[in-house]
Amino acid sequence: MKRWLILLFGSLVVVAGLAWAYLQIRPDNPIRSAAPAAVTLTMDCGGVGLDFELCSELVQQFAARTGYTVIPKLTPQNATLRLHLLRELFLTRSTGMDVVMVDVIWPGMLADDLLDLTPYFNPAQLADFFPEMVANNTVNGRLLAVPWFTDAGLLYYRTDLLQRYGFNTLPTTWNDLAYMARIIQEGERAAGNEAFWGFVWQGRSSESLTCNALEWLASEGAGTIVEPDGRISVNNQASVQALARAQRWIGTISPPEVLAMGEEEARALWEAGNAAFMRNWPYAYALGQREGSAVRGRFDVMPLPQGAAGSAAALGGWQLAVSRHSRFPQQAVELVRFMTSAEAQEFRAIRGAYNPTRRSLYQDPDVLAANPFFARMPAILLAAVARPSTVTAAAYDSVSTAFQTEVFRILQGATSPEVALSALEQQLVRIRGEAW
Ligand code: GLC
Repeated sequence: MKRWLILLFGSLVVVAGLAWAYLQIRPDNPIRSAAPAAVTLTMDCGGVGLDFELCSELVQQFAARTGYTVIPKLTPQNATLRLHLLRELFLTRSTGMDVVMVDVIWPGMLADDLLDLTPYFNPAQLADFFPEMVANNTVNGRLLAVPWFTDAGLLYYRTDLLQRYGFNTLPTTWNDLAYMARIIQEGERAAGNEAFWGFVWQGRSSESLTCNALEWLASEGAGTIVEPDGRISVNNQASVQALARAQRWIGTISPPEVLAMGEEEARALWEAGNAAFMRNWPYAYALGQREGSAVRGRFDVMPLPQGAAGSAAALGGWQLAVSRHSRFPQQAVELVRFMTSAEAQEFRAIRGAYNPTRRSLYQDPDVLAANPFFARMPAILLAAVARPSTVTAAAYDSVSTAFQTEVFRILQGATSPEVALSALEQQLVRIRGEAW
């Protein structure tokens, strides 16, 4: 009798447990929707430079205003790893990330998993944003993300060292850069700094290398890997020369470790005062001017050096989007609206040198006082070279991976540019066969 009672009681507990679990999972869960106060949002806050710090501060402000709980998430620095993380989350329909950061090259790849924001942002609300960025984020008529900050590759240079070595002009061409980098490097080493290098950049096989190498190619008129009409252009003589030149930098003006460097590793060497020049994005400006940086007050930025076709900056930048798997899409949209507002973008521009995606902020006196070079940024941004993500859409990741892998092999000296570029062309033809 006792045993029978225990069994009955046990079964009741199991049934109640299952019913409770079912109510939690059901999308129209009456318990949950009856308690809107329990909104909890998770926001992808990045991990490069001041990404996380500034994002967390804004998240706190938003939470205080709305009463929602918002959890800022620190995510990888490497853009390639971030993409893999998002794909994993979307594949498992995870509800664990409501607002996601979307790289400028991703809207075509992630279209199926992002909420259509068209109903939430009318044309007047988008009017201040650069129209090219809104267009980039609109796939098949669906606005998938709102531009948050924009990026273009820049050349950082040490004003004090140029002066010390008698250079009265800036390096206009890649040859000027290599020459000045060598002279300054020799001088600094002779003066006792063995750790000093002429030029640091991002050579790690990742999306950062795709951006760096695209800049070398485009500045020589070698195209953009795949052209906007779908033609595969990368295998040409100008590419061969641009890549051979970059290979010669390694071990001469750039440390061999540049092959393991992303943005943050290059910035660390630069901020320690151990490089004359650095290629990086605008965010490194604010960090270089902070207390504790050895280059504080001793550097400036300029457009990247010119090749035969001029100067070419890769166009970068990040957007905010709402995951289609979010349990609180309305509230997540509110968070996107706040983060992309003029107020939040102004804060990020002043504190972190993040380039606004709202045109009016380039006339904002406080933003310009914090970053005098912002006055020149709209021209640099509008001339910046886009990676071929629109034409290759969902295949962009494969295209970029093939490109960076072959470029990396050239830089390592494992193969010649001619051999690598013809292998790359064959790979791209294969990818195109399936994708565009
Ligand atoms: C920057 C750019 C982004 C690019 C990435 C590569 O974050 O904004 O567009 O893909 O660097 O590392």
